[in-house]
Amino acid sequence: MTNANRLIIFDTTLRDGEQSPGASMTKDEKVRIARQLERMRVDVIEAGFAAASPGDFEAIRAIAGAVRESTICSLSRANDRDIARAAEALAPAERKRIHTFIATSPLHMRMKLRMEPEQVLEQAKIAIRCARQYTDDIEFSPEDGSRSDEDFLCRVLEAVIAEGATTINFPDTVGYAVPEVFGATIKRLRERIPNSDKAIWSVHCHNDLGLAVANSLAGVMIGGARQIECTINGLGERAGNTALEEVVMALRTRGDHFKLELGIDTTQIVAASKMVSQITGFAVQPNKAVVGANAFAHASGIHQDGILKARETYEIMRAEDVGWAANKIVLGKLSGRNAFKERLRELGIALDSEAEVNAAFARFKELADRKSEIFDEDIMALVSDEEHAQEGEHYRFVSLAQRSETGEIPSAKVVFAIDGKEFTCEGEGDGPVDATVNAIEKIAASGAELVLFSINAISNGTQSQGEVTMRLSRSGRIVNGVGSDPDIIVASAKAYLSGLNKLHSKIERVNPQQ
Ligand code: KIV
Ligand code: ZN
Repeated sequence: MTNANRLIIFDTTLRDGEQSPGASMTKDEKVRIARQLERMRVDVIEAGFAAASPGDFEAIRAIAGAVRESTICSLSRANDRDIARAAEALAPAERKRIHTFIATSPLHMRMKLRMEPEQVLEQAKIAIRCARQYTDDIEFSPEDGSRSDEDFLCRVLEAVIAEGATTINFPDTVGYAVPEVFGATIKRLRERIPNSDKAIWSVHCHNDLGLAVANSLAGVMIGGARQIECTINGLGERAGNTALEEVVMALRTRGDHFKLELGIDTTQIVAASKMVSQITGFAVQPNKAVVGANAFAHASGIHQDGILKARETYEIMRAEDVGWAANKIVLGKLSGRNAFKERLRELGIALDSEAEVNAAFARFKELADRKSEIFDEDIMALVSDEEHAQEGEHYRFVSLAQRSETGEIPSAKVVFAIDGKEFTCEGEGDGPVDATVNAIEKIAASGAELVLFSINAISNGTQSQGEVTMRLSRSGRIVNGVGSDPDIIVASAKAYLSGLNKLHSKIERVNPQQ
């Protein structure tokens, strides 16, 4: 790295973000997000953890083949097998990075790894030596770094840099750090480790105390880190990771203070946020900084008056600079196949075959018959539906009739197919959604527990499609089903069946932190 003021943005939505319960994504969804991250000019995309499952491996390989501008990275534990698997998945990439890690805190070494510190030190060195066979771009993380002994960290980090690690990532794995201490620790480590200048220092923060962004910025300003690891919408396990949109816009908006250069095209932020939320079923809270629906809405009369006179009175960023203005009516009932295809291209959605375009176009026409204005978000939702259909759904929604009236018990009649064979079922419940789920369960008898139900409008106005997320849990497995439709009860039925489809698929993955 020649420019000491250049800050690297390392996105881990597809790896650490995906570790969030229920957020698992298909290969095609991951490729779609990776392409959007590339459009945003993210420097490094951590595409997954190759050894976790065959699905993760294939997704990394597909991303490594599809993305040209960003460096593609795979996580791996500090062992030969994981590292070889990461290298194999990354083979098609133009620029590749292997990110290997091992826990260094006394608690993790003793309780999780059951290893002595000297063994951990040796294992870390061996891992870097192994990774060097495949690439020169190697990142090392001492997991649970913020709760590790500083003298031990100095020994491990000096050793891995000597072996050839080019990025040292300092994780606050459990979100325990506070900004001044976190920044000062990185500064001291860099001062104490004789070869620290041979590596770029990085920060990776979790948000358990709501301090992930503050800790990341302290790591940069006090500690001298020049890489921030983050995720879109702050997606991640528990309270999530550092939110990309928040650190990026803090660094941009307060460039006078931070004085750092970033390669990010901020106008792609909102599109990325909507894509990730729609694919994972993790809704963005309205008051979320930068990407929340209210982030640029000024309800109070005094604020509105000020904004009209001079926008800077109450706005520190421009909505269009993060991509809000891009939200426009794009297509309608009379739009043809070519206009639809062109809009898919502009949204960066590459459907594999003409048959897939035709199927998505048929869904579009069906939607346009029921909804006069079609927004980008509607197109993204219908492409997701189509991708799930192409993957061969076990359960498929067909139709729904529902009745509710004040003072009466709501009832629903649902038709859905299981492996192509149609079933009709009827149910009653406390409300129309409850009646719909009860009807489906009469046939599906899934044994799943509904642990979260949320509904959001995809775009503005009462004609908007409703997007429903249903989080289902069964035998310790958690999945998010997502469904969208102008009729919110139909959207609920689709979301429930989408959740059952995910539970039905046998994808199992290893969690790197277990
Ligand atoms: O939080 C963490 O420690 C991680 C490491 C694998 C970097 O995600
Ligand atoms: Zn993490």
